[in-house]
Amino acid sequence: MSTDKPAERWYKDAVIYELHVRAFHDGKGDGVGDFVGLTRKLDYLQDLGVSALWLLPFYPSPLRDDGYDISDYFDVHPSYGTLSEFKRFLREAHRRGLKVITELVLNHTSDQHALFQRARRAPPGSRERDFYVWSDSPSKYAEARVIFKDFESSNWTWDPVAKAYYWHRFYSHQPDLNFDNPAVLRHLLKAVDFWLGLGVDGLRLDAIPYLFEREGSSCENLPETHAFLKELRRHVDARFKDRMLLAEANQWPEDAAAYFGSGDECHMAFHFPIMPRLFSALHMEDCFPIVDILKQTPALPDALQWALFLRNHDELTLEMVTDEERDYMYRVYAMDPRARINLGIRRRLAPLLGNHRRKIELINGLLFSLPGTPVLYYGDEIGMGDNIYLGDRNGVRTPMQWSADRNGGFSQADAARLYAPVNADSVYGYQGLNVEAQEQQPCSLLNWMRQLVAARRRHDTFGRGSTEFLDADNRRVLAYFRHGADDDILVVANLSQKAQAVELALGRYAGIQPVEIVGGTLFPRIGVGPYALSFGPYGFYWFSLGCGRRPPAWRNPEVQVPFLPKGTSPESPGLPA
Ligand code: BGC
Repeated sequence: MSTDKPAERWYKDAVIYELHVRAFHDGKGDGVGDFVGLTRKLDYLQDLGVSALWLLPFYPSPLRDDGYDISDYFDVHPSYGTLSEFKRFLREAHRRGLKVITELVLNHTSDQHALFQRARRAPPGSRERDFYVWSDSPSKYAEARVIFKDFESSNWTWDPVAKAYYWHRFYSHQPDLNFDNPAVLRHLLKAVDFWLGLGVDGLRLDAIPYLFEREGSSCENLPETHAFLKELRRHVDARFKDRMLLAEANQWPEDAAAYFGSGDECHMAFHFPIMPRLFSALHMEDCFPIVDILKQTPALPDALQWALFLRNHDELTLEMVTDEERDYMYRVYAMDPRARINLGIRRRLAPLLGNHRRKIELINGLLFSLPGTPVLYYGDEIGMGDNIYLGDRNGVRTPMQWSADRNGGFSQADAARLYAPVNADSVYGYQGLNVEAQEQQPCSLLNWMRQLVAARRRHDTFGRGSTEFLDADNRRVLAYFRHGADDDILVVANLSQKAQAVELALGRYAGIQPVEIVGGTLFPRIGVGPYALSFGPYGFYWFSLGCGRRPPAWRNPEVQVPFLPKGTSPESPGLPA
């Protein structure tokens, strides 16, 4: 049970909410979300119970890759506001106890960045030219794969001004910086100091595996990249306290774990391979994909943490699965070819799961209890839909749906001015699916999510405990312990659309009466024999087994389960299982 959370390692206990300023709320009425609008919505985020906000890139940019094509590292895109509006947002977030994580896009810039414009005009071999990676022939580094394979056929593009090819791992308008040039490092460290100096709490290191290029290699995960990260970490530790670096490395667990170094690189790293396996386990009704990938995942020392997610601003990437698994995922989750992009699926959570409320609850129940820090994608807490007819990954980046008012309450502008159309379809349209409506319905997904977030945050064990899988003798049921300092939690989940039963060997807890965490319900005492449990379709339980040691405060019937709307009780329908 958590009481006062330690300030350091805050990311271990965090619930992170990912959002784009542009998509959240338009405070100025010009059709584009901005910092004024986001600041107004901080109370909503506080009520949801999340503890950290991850902001997608909001810097000056031609916006040809939704801001990951940065043209100036030291300012705010004018459409989103000014630096002082950002600072006010940051102050207001901190006042509410919310940490703020921003993007550090290291690997590349926009081709509109002054550094690139200078480089292409500078003489070959000069310091200015060397900010980027050039070649006379497009055959160098031939073993490096093309990542945006639907859009690019090579990692090299000819520049008629420089009269040379430049290297890019993503879009051709995003030239890669040359990390062999120490001046690049100095420039990026200035950006780090700038944003951390303003008080930003964490940095997501975008596309971190691709910083260096070496002939004869895949140009991913090179030792030079790790040496660079150690230097970055030393730099941050020497100047700032309690800041967090989060690696975006879409890699197998062992390679992703390398981004922790020996505790001297990143504090966190996304766990990419678990994500598609949660979806395939749910469709196969079999716990194997989840158990299997977590068994391949190295255990982490106390200071480090995985970041877990279901959906984000990109496609549901299928890079870290086998060819058979990818075929399976496409078949069951993206029959419509328009839902596919690169090596992945461009859909939000609710449409992926056929808008099945119990499946949405179950997969969140797993996200919030598996080892790591959960990351929620904006709009998924109300079950927003997507629009696969918009280009690129824009279908999962539509405006947040606040109410049934004009433009879903997102903006006062004319609909035609919006940066993207609000979803208005008959199932996920803003007229019926919005925050205001869900705040008024006690059993809405939003209110259910608030309870889940609150339950998770009451128990440090979820963020800090070790994990042990149990053999439930029924592959449709996933069962694991989270062992914490003063609580053991048992998670049992029915991955099937049919009712299921299991008998679990819980003899070592004989005499303890499990308490179901979200609702606070007491279950029958554990004996020395098998412990029988039954579930409805997609039902799950989180049990606290620590109450043998001391009764949890939240079991006191006087204590209200937080964030319930007025007039409802913890026994409301809509709670898990
Ligand atoms: C981001 C993508 C982006 C790419 C290139 C990824 O890590 O998540 O949205 O397109 O980097 O910057």
